Amino acid sequence: MRINDSAIVERLKELGVELRAAVSLKEKTSLGIGGTTDELLLHRYDTIPQVMRLLADAGIPHRFLGGGTNVLIADGELPWVVLHLPVAHPGMRVEGNSAFVDASADLGGMVTFCAKHDLGGMEGLIGVPGSVGGALRMNAGAYGTQIGPWVREVELYRAASGEVETVRGKEIRFDYRHTSFAPDDVMLRVKLELPSKPYKEILAGIKMCNEKRRASQPLNQKSAGCIFKNPPGGSAGRMIDELKLKGHRVGDAGVSDRHANFFVNLADATCDDMQRLIDDVRERVRAAYGAELENEVIFWRN
Ligand code: EPU
Repeated sequence: MRINDSAIVERLKELGVELRAAVSLKEKTSLGIGGTTDELLLHRYDTIPQVMRLLADAGIPHRFLGGGTNVLIADGELPWVVLHLPVAHPGMRVEGNSAFVDASADLGGMVTFCAKHDLGGMEGLIGVPGSVGGALRMNAGAYGTQIGPWVREVELYRAASGEVETVRGKEIRFDYRHTSFAPDDVMLRVKLELPSKPYKEILAGIKMCNEKRRASQPLNQKSAGCIFKNPPGGSAGRMIDELKLKGHRVGDAGVSDRHANFFVNLADATCDDMQRLIDDVRERVRAAYGAELENEVIFWRN
């Protein structure tokens, strides 16, 4: 989708928004899949309500993209523009046992920043790719840690009210890879409360998680992490592996040889390739185990 109306372009500029025309979202996602659209970089958090109102009044559909690490986006010309919080200098500061972090910060960067201030608890999150905002929305987790329990406050733009609001951690439900945020809530900042721990100890935990991850996940290939959530009490990766589906392909989309719940873009996979691979594997698991695998990856279709 293109924003061509010069009055809107001018007003966006006044609101501190940088417009990048015809951006390929292949470059913006860890899967390397996605069509083309205009991208708006929101350099000022304080003008977000006005920007959103402007887009709504002009009838311009939009979606917020965080780190792009857990999303499967349609191919071709997309019918919505993409909004993005810039990542150049995200705010991060520590005060006692509290950390205040902008949603656009890199999740791993936040973990190491807090570690350097002797604040631990999030070691397991170290290798999870993506932004702090995406991690909050999904309640990202790994190696027994999730971000949810550390959250004390989230500042967000609430589309339903058109306002920036602060929500207390206690008011948010953090479940397994799911939260009670509305789909159009936009994460802006978070306040975390973390346990004190010596840097050296945190570092040892971080190293251990990194090693486990390197040993079991295809980190050098294009993926969106695990494609399916684990079913209650089960392991999607183990089930897919047991069905001998490692290496199974549809076009350039393939089940990783290393971890069967990682689906990788082997060269130039399309969204359709990936979608068909997901549907095929889900169907085979259903037939063999009677289990219905739920997507962990988020679909952005037209
Ligand atoms: N397994 C296999 N074959 C495989 C993959 C796994 O037999 O190809 C077996 C393993 O040997 C193990 C069990 O399945 O006994 C579980 O595997 P693993 O420890 O790799 O964990 P997982 O349940 O597959 C989850 C998260 C990962 C997270 C790891 C580590 C989900 C869907 N996945 O994977 O998160 O990194 O635990 O904590 O919850 C993600 O969310 O994108 C993600 C990668």
